[in-house]
Amino acid sequence: VNITVEDKNGTRQDLELPTDMGLSLMEVLKASEYNILATCGGMALCATCHVEVLEGADKLPELNDPEYDMLDTLPDATPDSRLACQLRISDEMEGMVVRLMAEED
Ligand code: FES
Repeated sequence: VNITVEDKNGTRQDLELPTDMGLSLMEVLKASEYNILATCGGMALCATCHVEVLEGADKLPELNDPEYDMLDTLPDATPDSRLACQLRISDEMEGMVVRLMAEED
C-alpha cells in the first residue's frame, strides 16, 4: 500500500509499505530515509515513533492500552496521534497521510 508522509518541514512524500511481512509502520519508517529513532524498539515506551494521522485515521484499529497511556503523556499529542510501532501495516492504510511528530536526533 502507499501512504504519504509529511516530515517536520511540511514536505510530503509517498512511501510504499509492504503488507506481506508483518511489519509495523515504525519499522518501515525507521528503515526509510526518515530514519526515526524508535529508541524502545516498539514497546510503546519512547514515543519517538509518534505520528499524527492526518487522513485515514478512522480506518485504523483502536488504540491499545500502552499506546493510549504513552500518548496521554505527550504534550503535543492530538486526537489523531498514534505510535507507529503499534500499527501493523494493513491494506486499510492505503492513501493514509501521516505527519512525523517526534523530535529528530
Ligand atoms: Fe518506542 Fe514506538 S518505538 S514507542
